[in-house]
Amino acid sequence: MVEYLDETTKFDGIYLRRIREGGTLYWIPDPQHYAKPGYYLPFELPLFYNPMMEINRDLSIIALATFLRVSDKEPEEITYIELLAGTGIRGFRALNEVGLLNVIMNDINSKCVKFMHFNAKCFSPEIQSHATILNYEANHLLSSIRLWKKPIDAIDIDPFGTPTPFIDSAVRILRRKTGLLLITATDTSALIGKFPQSARRKYGVYTKITPFGGEIAIRTLIHYALNTATKYGIALKPLFGFFLTHFIKIALITIPGRRVADKFLWDRSGWIAIEDDKIHILRKPKNTPKGDLIGPIWLGPIYDEEFVNEALNITNKLPINKKSKTKIETWLKAELKTALIPFYYNIELIASKLRRTTPRIKDVINELQKQGYIAERTHFHPKAIKTNAPLEIIQKIIKKL
Ligand SMILES: C[S@@+](CC[C@H](N)C(=O)[O-])C[C@H]1O[C@@H](n2cnc3c(N)ncnc32)[C@H](O)[C@@H]1O
Repeated sequence: MVEYLDETTKFDGIYLRRIREGGTLYWIPDPQHYAKPGYYLPFELPLFYNPMMEINRDLSIIALATFLRVSDKEPEEITYIELLAGTGIRGFRALNEVGLLNVIMNDINSKCVKFMHFNAKCFSPEIQSHATILNYEANHLLSSIRLWKKPIDAIDIDPFGTPTPFIDSAVRILRRKTGLLLITATDTSALIGKFPQSARRKYGVYTKITPFGGEIAIRTLIHYALNTATKYGIALKPLFGFFLTHFIKIALITIPGRRVADKFLWDRSGWIAIEDDKIHILRKPKNTPKGDLIGPIWLGPIYDEEFVNEALNITNKLPINKKSKTKIETWLKAELKTALIPFYYNIELIASKLRRTTPRIKDVINELQKQGYIAERTHFHPKAIKTNAPLEIIQKIIKKL
């Protein structure tokens, strides 16, 4: 949890409070001054800051620290853009908690820019000298950076709503080989299929509400980013993905080459058809009697073994709050074990169709593992299991327990 400290001040007419997020002290607009009961806090503040997004920023810190380790570079050799920086807390956390990367923090709102400069003064001269604070429209900035002829190693896209307007310009300037792309989407309702027209318009996907909304959302976003990159002869390999109550976050890495881009599009993307709790994976769309086709979406692994193992080694050493750390580690460990298993079984739903009470998820997992199947919980749903067992086996276990 973000720690609110007693220190307050005022800058540029804005009441501020000092907080500690992760291992970093920072000034933010004071929620105690601006929060009105019953309103959504981030939009009540004169500058956008969402304490609920701490875990999202933790994931950026973990991704950057892991990226630094696996790329075997010195921090100064890495340029990281926080494209839509808001208060700038993510960029300063990266400098303070990961290392002296070259961090570019950008926001279209000039108030945010002034505010970032104000916060910058509270950091050491080394940190200040590695922070570049800019005031551009995001796509304009990314297009001009092409003219700087400077390879960009990592870009973080954290918008209001959909990230799609920024992905094309981001992949064009990202290092073609081993560039890190972090993407957040908060338009989860469209991505989980609640608003199919909006999803089709923004992500080019045919989708609908299903019991697998969270995973379909992540696979939709990955496919959208991949499809955008392939036209430049670049593939994007997923490193990890999280679906949390109010946002989706994915991490991807660039791989250059038309051949690998084609392979990812043709062999690892496709469609699914859901029929009576069973998912049929289709490489090409076909009409099914129920017309419940969803796609195109990413069908390959969401979690990269090498990257996630390294992330697990590193997370413990980072100054992230204990609650987030435990959650992230638990999720990553479980998802890694089932990385080759797309989708999951919602035990509660299957039990209710069988007119049985829902057994303890732990007991179903133990029984499946006893029978030799891979079985783990998944962060996508508290009552779901990822397993390579067929539906019939799960139904038998539910009836038995
Ligand atoms: C969700 S907030 C970013 C939060 C921040 N990344 C964090 O971790 O706290 C989105 C920010 O994007 C900025 N923004 C929106 N559209 C933009 C654009 N086209 N170019 C640059 N900044 C933009 C807004 O001013 C806002 O501060």
